[in-house]
Parts: sequence; structure tokens; C-alpha cells
Amino acid sequence: MVDQETWERVVFQKLELPNGMIASSRIMRAATWMSQAEENGICGEAIIETYGKIRAGVVVTGFQYVMYEGQTIKRMISNSKASDVEGLKRLAGAIHASGGLAAAQLVHCGSRSLPKYTGNDIAFGPSDMEVPQPRGDVVRVKAMTVDHVERVTQAYADAAKRAVKAGFDVIELHGAHNYGLWQFFDPSFNRRPVDDPYTGATIEGRCKAMVDAVRAVKNAVDIPIQVKVDSSSKMVGPEEVGELTKRLAEAGAYCVIFSGPNPSQNPKDVGEAYFLDDATIIRSIAHDSGLLFGLVGGIRSPETVVELLTGNGNPKAAFDVIQLSRPLISEPALLQRWTEEAKISKQEPARCISCNRCLVAGLRGKVECVQFEGE
Ligand SMILES: Cc1cc2nc3c(=O)[nH]c(=O)nc-3n(C[C@H](O)[C@H](O)[C@H](O)COP(=O)(O)O)c2cc1C
Repeated sequence: MVDQETWERVVFQKLELPNGMIASSRIMRAATWMSQAEENGICGEAIIETYGKIRAGVVVTGFQYVMYEGQTIKRMISNSKASDVEGLKRLAGAIHASGGLAAAQLVHCGSRSLPKYTGNDIAFGPSDMEVPQPRGDVVRVKAMTVDHVERVTQAYADAAKRAVKAGFDVIELHGAHNYGLWQFFDPSFNRRPVDDPYTGATIEGRCKAMVDAVRAVKNAVDIPIQVKVDSSSKMVGPEEVGELTKRLAEAGAYCVIFSGPNPSQNPKDVGEAYFLDDATIIRSIAHDSGLLFGLVGGIRSPETVVELLTGNGNPKAAFDVIQLSRPLISEPALLQRWTEEAKISKQEPARCISCNRCLVAGLRGKVECVQFEGE
């Protein structure tokens, strides 16, 4: 049970961003593809209405592709050309109107880009490979040339400029979930030779694409940059992510959020805050980097939120922010509910049961909670 004083003191402790902007709460809405952009990636009425209902200190948009070739799924948001700015402006405006700071999550999906959406017959990633698809076919991936990687890096910077033009307050680079930037870091995707600047054979080479993207965005815009990374994967231990995290700080990121390659698990099976153990190791390595640290994945109860934000009594173990995704699909105003319930000492956990049927709904139409449909 969290008492009202603790809830308000911890969750609404103001978060000052490097440029002096203030987020009203330590709860961020995690980046969540809603399958609601128009067919051409433009932000239209549907997505604007959805974002207007979300309550959080910082609202991170679903991933926005920075190049047409970098799409992986239907109805992603496009941030790849000048004509996208108008819709992005309305999106940022809807987030501001509901009281949050607006963060644009940027991505190039690399070898996970799908020809079905890009119209190319191949995908581009760190190395040549074939990626099996659910129906038995394969996507052929061609290794990007150095020049191609540099163009993608520039595309991140250009997308960040468009985001600023549209009124976004923060950039989040998607360095997780086995998409493009993570692929360069993970040797199971990156088999580039040792004489290549992005080689998978050294930690410098593996970090370079993500670090360069942070630098390019930093040089292009004057707003805070956060990066979402996996906390480990089959081929990468948290110790190595610790090294990456230090480099992201040196490149100019202010905050790193820890996720994992299997991001949307069920906390009933694996426990709440299921990336906490890895994240704790990474933090111990990068503790004096000056970064803020965030955690996402399976956070469901007000008690866990407060434990994570206070380090359970150990300030050195405290996270600066936590992110929620599926709970805010089911209850976009969950933060408001928890705050009202704290006043009568009766906080109930998020109602989300982590069934992931919201994701399936997104593939058929739009992302929404089908468990509590009509309630
Ligand atoms: C429908 C859906 C869409 C998602 N889209 C994104 C996305 O665009 N970018 C991203 O980094 N993560 C995405 N995620 C992962 C979430 O941000 C989050 O890391 C994960 O669901 C775990 O958090 P949760 O337990 O609070 O849902 C998505 C998850 C779901 C269920």
C-alpha cells in the first residue's frame, strides 16, 4: 500500500530535462505503435484522438521511420519527409494539450524492415542474411555499405529536425528490440569484418552506429535525447550494454531506458519489472556517467512504481523514470486513476493482463485493449 503523501512526492517529483524543461511526473508513456497512422504514415484524426487521451509526464510516440526503407509494420508514423511535419505538429499538440511533454521515437528497422511495407524486394542491415518469416518465406537482407550507414545516420538527424519543427520536446532513439541500431551492436546481426568502421568484431565498431546517431541528432537539434536499449540478448551480456551506455552518455544522451529483445512479456510468468536484474548490472557500470536511468517492461502496480523510483530505500538503486506501454493502452488515464485512489488509500494495480491481444488487434485494425472492450 502506498500512502498519498509518498505517491505524490515520488511520482510527481518534477523531472528537469537538460534544457530546463520540466516533466510533471516520473511516469513516461513508453513508445507504442498504435497502427493508427494513415496508410502513407501521415498522422491523421485517429492517432491524434488516441494520443489526446494519454496522461503521462512524457509521452513517447510509437516508432517513427526516418527512411522509407526502414519500415517494419503497417501504419507506422512516417518522419521521413517534409510533408510529414504538419501531421507531426498536430500529434505533438495533442500530447501537449493533455499535459505531457512530447517525445518522438525514431527508428530505422534495418534487417527487420519488411519489403511488404517498403516496396523494396530486399531489406538493408549490418550484414547479409536471410530472415525467416512466419509463413515460411524469407526476407533477404543486404549489408549496408559504409556510405549507406552514414545516410541512415543523417536520416536520424533530419528526422529530429522535423520533430523539433513539429514542436516535440524530446527525441528517443530506438536502440532496442533487435531493430537497426541494436543490430549493429549485436554480433548475431553484425558480422562486418574487422577493417570496417562498424565491425561486429570490436566493442567500438558495434557501438558506432548508435553513438553516431546520438551525435548526429545532438549536432542537429537542441533538445534532450534519450535512448531505449536492450539490457541484454542471447549474444550480448549486460556488461557490454554497460559499455555502450557509457558511450551514449559521452555522445550526448541524457537518459537511457532499459528494455529487452522480448519486450512485451507477461509479468504473471516472469515477475513485474522483468528487466530489473540486467538493468541493475548496467547501471553499476555506468553509474558515474551522469545519465538518468529508466526502466520499462511489466511494471503494473503502484507499489512497484514507487519501489523502482525510490530504489526501495536505496537512492543509488532508484530509477529516475519508469515507462508503461500496455497498461496505458488499456487505461490511458491510469496515472490519474492511481492518483485519485491514493487519496482514499485504495490503489488497484493496472487492469492490463498483458495478454498482448492489443498487438494482434493492431495487425488487424488498430491497437486497442480487447480484454475490457465496451467497459
Ligand atoms: C502494441 C505495442 C506496440 C509497441 N510499439 C513499440 C514501439 O513503437 N517502440 C518501442 O520501443 N516499443 C514498442 N512496444 C514495446 C513497449 O514500449 C514496451 O517496451 C513493452 O510493451 C513492455 O512494457 P509494458 O509491460 O509496460 O507493456 C510496443 C508494445 C506493444 C504492446
